[in-house]
Amino acid sequence: MTLKSPEVLRRTGGTPVKSIIYDEETIARRVQELGDEITAAYPDGSLLVLGLLKGSFIFLSDLVRRIERPLQVDFLVAASYGVEKVSSGNVRLVYDPETRLEGKHILLVEDIIDSGKTLKRLTTLLRAREPRSLAICALLDKQIAPDPPPEIRFVGFKAPPAFLVGYGLDHAENYRHLPFIADLE
Ligand code: IMP
Ligand code: MG
Repeated sequence: MTLKSPEVLRRTGGTPVKSIIYDEETIARRVQELGDEITAAYPDGSLLVLGLLKGSFIFLSDLVRRIERPLQVDFLVAASYGVEKVSSGNVRLVYDPETRLEGKHILLVEDIIDSGKTLKRLTTLLRAREPRSLAICALLDKQIAPDPPPEIRFVGFKAPPAFLVGYGLDHAENYRHLPFIADLE
């Protein structure tokens, strides 16, 4: 798919994307590798894969199908960004998982780590619920978080310092459905 191809423009409503950073095949290959790593990392115990909505919804649905062990899925919702492309640092938990976390391996799945503020707040909150273990799997890490949480264990790609959209990532709630990850402008 080219950046101004009909396939792109139909999906974006006419806005061209600057460049495709990770195409569908590249993402699928890396998600398979992450699935293999995660399968190997949890030889026993109950595993709860906790998706951080909304950004992780596509990544999580692909990832869990590549993990070859029993697991459960739940979600949580934290609101941090509005229409701005910078972190407000104001992370609110607007949906809390129903599932008990105590005694389980918790794998928190996040789309992208930027300032790291969202994960810092969430790991503090989840640690207090006494899981057997707590680890983070992020598809993308911009590697600019000044004090990243030690739970970051699985990372898909070291992302460039651009604003990325697609494969779940949005700008003002748009572009989540793009099957690739692109740099918008
Ligand atoms: P942080 O708290 O600054 O690490 O921001 C993390 C959250 O901000 C992610 O869960 C995303 O929802 C959003 N975010 C950060 N960078 C990007 C980006 O490049 N594109 C889309 N969303 C982003
Ligand atoms: Mg977002």
